[in-house]
Parts: sequence; C-alpha cells; structure tokens
Amino acid sequence: MAPVPTISTDAVDVPVALLGYGTVGAAVHRLLVENAEDIERATGHRLRVVKALVRDPQRARKWLPDPTILTTDFAEIRDDPSIAIVAEVMGGIEPTGTYMRELFAAGKPVVTANKQLLAQRGGDMFGAAKAAGVQLRFEASVCAAIPVIKVLRESLIVTNVRRVLGIVNGTTNFMLTNMEGGADYAGALAEAQRLGYAEADPTEDVGGGDAAAKMAILASVAFGCRITLADVDFQGITEVTQAHVAAARELQMVVRLVGSATLVGSSYDVRVRPSLVDRQHPLAAVDGAFNAVMLQGDAIREIMLEGPGAGGIETASAVVADMVAIMGTHGTGFLQNDSTWRTLQKLPAGELPSPFYVHIEVDDRPGVLARIAERFAAHEVSVSRLIQTPIDSGAAMHVVLHEAPEGRVLRSLADIAELPETRSRPMALPVVSDRGVSGLGWS
Ligand code: NAP
Ligand code: HSE
Repeated sequence: MAPVPTISTDAVDVPVALLGYGTVGAAVHRLLVENAEDIERATGHRLRVVKALVRDPQRARKWLPDPTILTTDFAEIRDDPSIAIVAEVMGGIEPTGTYMRELFAAGKPVVTANKQLLAQRGGDMFGAAKAAGVQLRFEASVCAAIPVIKVLRESLIVTNVRRVLGIVNGTTNFMLTNMEGGADYAGALAEAQRLGYAEADPTEDVGGGDAAAKMAILASVAFGCRITLADVDFQGITEVTQAHVAAARELQMVVRLVGSATLVGSSYDVRVRPSLVDRQHPLAAVDGAFNAVMLQGDAIREIMLEGPGAGGIETASAVVADMVAIMGTHGTGFLQNDSTWRTLQKLPAGELPSPFYVHIEVDDRPGVLARIAERFAAHEVSVSRLIQTPIDSGAAMHVVLHEAPEGRVLRSLADIAELPETRSRPMALPVVSDRGVSGLGWS
C-alpha cells in the first residue's frame, strides 16, 4: 500500500528539496527565492528550499544564500515528512534512479531534468511513481525552457502527431553556428563549455547521445509508446568539418544536428544526424544555443516551438514550473500518468526516405562523374543538384539527392566507394528541405 502523499494543498509554506546544487540546482533555488511573492500570488503557495544534496559541501558556489541547506546525506531528504516535492537536478543514472524510487515510495513527487535516466529507465521510473500514486514531471529534461512536453501531453492530446523534427542540443547548435562564423571545432566547444551549455562530459553533446535521449522522450510522448535510448539511431557532429559547412553555404543550406521521430503506419523511426537544412526551412534560422521542435500531425498541420535549450536559469524555469504545477494537481494529477500506452514496431533500418547530401572525393578524370551517376541509377537514386570543387589535383563532389530510402543511398555509396577513382569513404547527411507535410497521412 502506497504511503499518503505529503502535500497539503492548503499550506502556504511548502518545504521542498533539491538533489543537486550545480548549474541548474542553484538556479532553481534562485528562481524560487526571487519569485516567491509572484508564485504565492499565483498559487497560494511559497516553495522554500530546505535541503539540497551535493557531493562536496565545501565547493565554492555561484549562488548560495544559506550554506546550511547543503547535505551529503540523502536520507535527510527522503525521511523528512515535511518535504513535499523534490527536484532531481544531479544527473546520472545511479544512484539517481535508486534515490528517485525511494522518494516515490516515501510519497514524494519528483521533478527531473534528467533525460538520460528517463530515456534509459523511464519505464521503471514511471512504474514506481504510479505504484506510489505520486507525480513524476520532466519538462526540463527536453529543451530546457521550451514547454514542449506540456504542449504534447496536454494541448495536443487529440492530435495524432506523426512527426517531430528538432534541434534539441544547444551545445552542438552553438558550435555549428560558431563554425559558420569561422570558428574551429575545438574553439567552439571550449566556448560552449565556458557558457555552461555542455554536459559535464561533452561527449554526450558532440556524440549525439544527449540529443538521442531527448528524441527518445519526445517520441515516447508524441507517439504514446515507450521508446528508449537504445531504439534511437544517432550520430553526432564529431565528423563535421569546415568543408561541410562551406559546401552547405554554397548550396544555400546550413549544417544542423537534427533529431527526427517519424511514425510510418504502426512503426516508428527515431534518429539524430548532422543534416543539411535548406535556408528557407524554419529550423535553419535556429542559431546559437537555441533549440526548436517542430510538431507535425493531423489537425494541427505544424507547430514550431523555439527557445533556449540549455543553461542553468533556462532549465530552472521549467523545473520551477513543474514544481508549481504539482501543487495544483497533486496525486497522479491532470494528465500526468505515464504517457506511453501502446506498442509500436521499430521501422526496419534503411527504410526511412529522405533527401540526402553526399560528399565524395575523387580523382578528376574523364568518365568519373558518369560512373558515379551509374551507381546512383542502379539503386534508383536520383540526383537533384551537384557542385564540384577542386582539391589537390582531384575533385570534391557535393551532391544533393532527391528523396530515397536511406538503405538505397548507402548501397549506392558503397558501390561508389569501390570505384578506383574514389579517394575516401563518401559521406551522406540527410537534408531537411521542405516542411514534409506530404505523405504523412493527413489530407
Ligand atoms: P552540475 O552543474 O554538474 O551539478 C550537479 C549537481 O549534482 C552538483 O551539485 C553535484 O554536487 C550534485 N551531484 C552529482 N552527483 C551526485 C551524487 N552522486 N551525490 C550527491 N550529489 C551529487 O549539473 P547541471 O548542469 O546542473 O545538470 C543537472 C541535471 O540537469 C543533469 O541531468 C543535466 O542533464 C540536466 N540539464 C542540464 C542543463 C544545463 O544546461 N546545464 C539543461 C537541461 C538539463 P557537487 O556540487 O558537490 O559536485
Ligand atoms: N547539454 C545540453 C545541451 C543541455 O547542450 O543542449 C542539457 O540538456
């Protein structure tokens, strides 16, 4: 039998706790203190941070009005019956997952910014929250300040969302934008770290794992089925060079790390790829650490949400909003049950169609272009645009292909790689060139 949740909806003073007091945790505390009167006017409650779990209480912190709130003992939070809500802003899978289960069992609702935990162990976490009859809210886990989870779960409840396209990692978008301005990869990464956008280990950002976890969460909520990190095919920006950025500019496009989740019949495809985005497309205008999510579906056609996707105070705004929402919707609350209710198949690899940009480096000799075109044609892949630039007595071909299933494109590139004139492994990046509202099932 689950314990009775500790929230009293009549109380003005509501003690809350934080797991973590780093970039996001300190910003949550600051927002709660600086906006206490506004929150009380709007909700009748004053959320007061009474404990914050850290590893090292002696570490210097940017904002800490009351050092006595810091503790290294999780039990002080779990076992304090006065603590009504806990915000988990420490990150990691363990001990975080165990702590969250113990908080649920103690009747405490939890707000989390932890995309990796939800993308890898969301089923366990939502199951434990449900068993205890408390809420688990997670707006801050995807795109920081952008209220996309709330929009998907509440505003679009009767919309059959069929595709989600997004720029969901602020660090890589910041880096790619800086590279467009001439910065090199290492300099752009160092600046993103200095500004607090990157994860503690930036491999997750540049390798695509951070965006993949967010796309798994977005796809789960949009399609109503459980999609985990392991179901997402992802690639980061580590192989993107100035040559790709320059070629994109020539083709009137920009390079962006794009996540896509697509429903094809009763199968889904979720992926993250560095992509070339047409300058006319709304995602091309998303610069710096901003994120954007485009939702496409029956009835709505298309909705785009754009805003700050990383940063302490930006993420904290979503954490605080979820904490306040819990006060008004206690129990499992308004539309806060686990959002995944059906089972869908994963679309077989290679079947998702897309236009592609292809980069091929070859010897510049008569007949090479014809042989490349033959390889594309053999797999029914059609060329849309082509630019050739000279490179050390050879040629770099920048080819934009019409929409084709990825498998056919990769097979044609494998054949092209076998040509004696091909100098290095050809590279293919998806192109985001139109709004993609055709062929997704609505009239
Ligand atoms: P951070 O600055 O590294 O802060 C982590 C905090 O958690 C620190 O206070 C740390 O203690 C504490 N902590 C970590 N492991 C702990 C453990 N085992 N026991 C006790 N305390 C522990 O991280 P952050 O940038 O605030 O990110 C926190 C979470 O928010 C992550 O899940 C991240 O993915 C998510 N998020 C971050 C952003 C962003 O822009 N930063 C945006 C969206 C979501 P010490 O201070 O003693 O080291
Ligand atoms: N490191 C992430 C990003 C922020 O750059 O988008 C946390 O989600």
